[in-house]
Amino acid sequence: MKNLLSIEEVDRGAIEAILDRAESFAEVGRRDIKKVPTLRGRTVVTLFYESSTRTSSSFELAAKRLSADLVSVKAAGSSVDKGESLKDTVATLSAYDPAAIVIRHPYAGAAQMVAAWTPAAVVNAGDGKHEHPSQALLDVYTLRRRLGSLEGRKIWIVGDVLHSRVARSNLIAFRRMGAEVTLCGPPTLIPRGIEELGCRVTHSLDGLEEADVVYALRMQLERMNDKLVPSLREYAANFQIDTRRLGPRQLLMHPGPVNRGVEISGEAIDSPQSLIGEQVAAGLVVRMAILYELLAGGPERPSAIGEGAAQSSAPVIGQPA
Ligand code: CP
Repeated sequence: MKNLLSIEEVDRGAIEAILDRAESFAEVGRRDIKKVPTLRGRTVVTLFYESSTRTSSSFELAAKRLSADLVSVKAAGSSVDKGESLKDTVATLSAYDPAAIVIRHPYAGAAQMVAAWTPAAVVNAGDGKHEHPSQALLDVYTLRRRLGSLEGRKIWIVGDVLHSRVARSNLIAFRRMGAEVTLCGPPTLIPRGIEELGCRVTHSLDGLEEADVVYALRMQLERMNDKLVPSLREYAANFQIDTRRLGPRQLLMHPGPVNRGVEISGEAIDSPQSLIGEQVAAGLVVRMAILYELLAGGPERPSAIGEGAAQSSAPVIGQPA
């Protein structure tokens, strides 16, 4: 795998290989020294044009745990403020010969464009409403640890599907792993024709009790130009996941950040069924596995990513750095 731009490009075997690798990094994370030398001498750039806490911090920590040199750029406060284009920004950062660029950008397709402008491996950390593939991988990892397998499991994704790159990536990944996916939300927040991706669509929480997993989505207020719901109070009355609606055997997930009291009640977030904290922890080891897969896991890397590639193509993850 050269880049991680879309979960559509990652087949079930490749997903399982990344998750297995993440399990081995979870074991490293339980040691006193949590660092391995896999990417020593390599550089990872994170380039974020949108706000992030989880994705940016976990990719940064993942790069450090793998002993890479890290350059972390947030568009706000960088020369992007002076009008520098995405292409020129990528060219500038590529001059440092990074092995990977992790990019988040508000425009769908931005990561794909970056991949055409740099010899580095490119990871899509979220491009507009399009995709968030590393989120999908960490969510499958979290569920695999809890359920063993997703085969035949019923997963309801509830809320603002229209603006959600997570919904799209997770729908693809969950189905690829054998789950049955239902999308639930008001008609204004479900994209027309999304059933073609192989899911069921419903506009009410009736029947939620069949779900093994309830995956609530954030109401993306910053992306809503039109008034797509009458009010947040009315949305919450119809679609909020609370402890009345969530049965004791059901698991609750959310990609974060959560609007507490809107898409999920505070009580449900803090309930034993909530996997939200486990999802965040999974983000670190899964993103280590993604960087490993792209930079050290495959056959010999093309020379574009640097001379050290061949040496680090057989990394020792059992040895501390
Ligand atoms: N889930 C997610 O992408 O969170 P951040 O926006 O905090 O990175």
